[in-house]
Amino acid sequence: MLPSLIVLGAPGSGKGTQALKISKEFGYKHLSTGDLLRAEIEKKSELGQKVQSIIAKGDLVSDEIVLELLKLNLQDNDKALLDGFPRNIQQSKMLDDQLFGNNANVKAIYFNVDLSVLKDRIVNRRTCKACGEIYNVKTKPYAANGTCLKCGSSDIVQRKDDTESVVDNRLNVFKETFEPILNFYRGTGRLLEVNAQQDEAAVFNDLKRLIEIYK
Ligand code: AP5
Ligand code: MG
Repeated sequence: MLPSLIVLGAPGSGKGTQALKISKEFGYKHLSTGDLLRAEIEKKSELGQKVQSIIAKGDLVSDEIVLELLKLNLQDNDKALLDGFPRNIQQSKMLDDQLFGNNANVKAIYFNVDLSVLKDRIVNRRTCKACGEIYNVKTKPYAANGTCLKCGSSDIVQRKDDTESVVDNRLNVFKETFEPILNFYRGTGRLLEVNAQQDEAAVFNDLKRLIEIYK
């Protein structure tokens, strides 16, 4: 694998929003395991049917399924930007063992944000199904006529797991699993951090500075 990046952080911390921008600016191949899983559900594939109820509850899908999906979508010469993987310490280790090796060229960027702001961000999120642009009905609205400002599509949707009760569970799962992941990347000298509490443009500026130094 070429030097790659991992974005780490809680649900709603802005990983997807920033990953779209980073991949465009720096030529990374953006792989969101959440998006890959949702595409399988949409296709009604065997895998999609297996994971649908797990995602609907906000629990984690099995490590093996998600790693397999990732491998299917990655080539040796990809410069990858992983979003939503790893989600637990086992996945962090599997990623090194099976894809990256203990590679100093793979940095993990932690999106540090106060968890109390996340529910509001998530329940107000909307996504353009055609191009993947991420909106927020309160803070980053799409066009007044209901279309995407990027591609003009009117297919703007709300994710099924973005309801209040499911968000509570997703945040609990995050709290239960995240600390060891952070320690793992810190311990191997590969952890970078960004203040994801700032507005979208300021987060992107900080990310650009970090990536310029470490790419
Ligand atoms: P996934 O799709 O990965 O969801 P998530 O981790 O819960 O993260 P989100 O996509 O909700 O948040 P985000 O950080 O991308 O925020 P965004 O930029 O969209 O996973 C979904 C499910 O799939 C999991 O629950 C699990 O079941 C399964 N799954 C996925 N990966 C797995 C794995 N590896 N192992 C096992 N299971 C797995 O922004 C959110 C909102 O905030 C938007 O409205 C946006 O406009 C707004 N916003 C963004 N930045 C800012 C900012 N700086 N200030 C204010 N608002 C902002
Ligand atoms: Mg996301």
